[in-house]
Amino acid sequence: MRLDKVLEQQQIGSRKAVRRLFQRGLVCVNGQTVRNEGLNVEPAFHQIEVAGKELIFAGHTYFMMNKPQGAVTAVSDSEHMTVIDLIEDGERTPKLYPVGRLDRDTEGLLLITDNGQLGYELMHPSKKVTKRYEVVVNEALHSQDCRRFSEGITFIGGTRCQPAKLTILSSSPKESRAYLDITEGKFHQVKKMFLSVGKKVIFLKRISMGPLQLTPELLPGEYRRLNRDELELLLPYFETKNRNE
Ligand code: URA
Repeated sequence: MRLDKVLEQQQIGSRKAVRRLFQRGLVCVNGQTVRNEGLNVEPAFHQIEVAGKELIFAGHTYFMMNKPQGAVTAVSDSEHMTVIDLIEDGERTPKLYPVGRLDRDTEGLLLITDNGQLGYELMHPSKKVTKRYEVVVNEALHSQDCRRFSEGITFIGGTRCQPAKLTILSSSPKESRAYLDITEGKFHQVKKMFLSVGKKVIFLKRISMGPLQLTPELLPGEYRRLNRDELELLLPYFETKNRNE
């Protein structure tokens, strides 16, 4: 949650008054004066003081879901079940949304949160957050495929992908398994990358996104709150610059 919004919500003062507090160096986070009004703060990690008084505030919600095939990565959909529909009534809050998009037939790691700023930081192309996918294709995979992926695939139509890392786990003429690490999120990117080397993806599962790893106890369709260690791993994405700076 943005620090200036926390202060406004805690009725510390109007936007103008809050800005003056920052200018006068009266806002401290973990004992340090902060002038970045847009600092993303979380009660588990940040102790806020305003003019020497501690501020108690509620944090955001963070769920890790193992998205099942069949659910759409959207907040609402007139035809299909969404990933938000899978969140139990008592835990569903109006601002929850999925960070990044997985196709309806893709399963695996999805972060669902009401922290819009964190999602923005994780998905922004400049951050080059690595996403790892487990992929099964209908053909053999060879070291030349790894080389083509590492050089950067160009789709028909000219769109160029950043270099990606393909790790072949098994290969046979009918079915091969691999990990693919990419740092972008183009539409249907993984499927199109494999099509560019003449292979069809028949199973796709995201297993990590930046520092977050899908944990094995989560079956497709299940979700849980991020634990403290996982939130800590996400901290670098909280500590971003104020967009006005
Ligand atoms: N790339 C794809 O092609 N599909 C996904 O769901 C995710 C990445």
